[in-house]
Amino acid sequence: MNRRRRLYEGKAKILYEGPEPGTLIQHFKDDATAFNARKHESIEGKGVLNNRISEHIFQLLGNVGVPTHFIKRMNMREQLIKEVEIVPLEVVVRNVAAGSLAKKLGLDEGMQLPRSIIEFYYKSDELDDPMVSEEHITAFGWANPQEIDEMMALALRINDFLSGLFFGIGIRLVDFKIEFGRHMEDDTMRIILADEISPDCCRLWDTKTSDKMDKDRFRQDLGGLIDAYQEVARRLGILTENPQNEPSGPRLVTSNE
Ligand code: TMP
Repeated sequence: MNRRRRLYEGKAKILYEGPEPGTLIQHFKDDATAFNARKHESIEGKGVLNNRISEHIFQLLGNVGVPTHFIKRMNMREQLIKEVEIVPLEVVVRNVAAGSLAKKLGLDEGMQLPRSIIEFYYKSDELDDPMVSEEHITAFGWANPQEIDEMMALALRINDFLSGLFFGIGIRLVDFKIEFGRHMEDDTMRIILADEISPDCCRLWDTKTSDKMDKDRFRQDLGGLIDAYQEVARRLGILTENPQNEPSGPRLVTSNE
């Protein structure tokens, strides 16, 4: 039984009070939603995979100096994170035309964009997360100009790092969504990466076959979501195959913390 105080439940994650002030526990559920939760299913094992994949990516980003909320993984479904004030924006970075951009501008899916494009969406379930401009963001006080600059600079650094990381394992990083939070460090409010980075919030296409290895498998009823996420984890080196003393199948391995 979970006796910790539940602070917030989202579509794919729950936040609990952490063991110390200024910390939270982020719990990854198996729930998959799309189209603002109009489509909803539970996919056994998704939460465990996203917890591990996001842990791995946040650690790598931390190693190259991107500030993040990640502290450590606690168990198969939970990680300890720094408590932040979430900036109410979804920051999307796109390298290749797909999804809503391809539809909106009538672009062929798969077309390489002239350069990486950053978009902002206002986080509001009631409004279906509308796309907003920097003018809206500053006028309504969701973030100030300096914070916008920091988020854009971090988003591009994350994009460069992740594009290279995925390219090295035969995956094209088409686009992704990230979220940022405000965190007080030495009397200074800093913008740090929060939430998660997993195949739930990225488009990942196999470089050779163009197979989708992300949540579009669920959005588009393609099936095989767990197999695809497992393959991403395996290529990232998080899963080992045919481990000793295990009868068969892939298995999650413990990372060096
Ligand atoms: P889009 O093409 O549907 O606008 O999605 C762009 C990227 O953002 C894609 O990688 C999926 C991700 N995304 C989320 O993580 N959450 C969302 O609610 C939406 C709409 C997209």
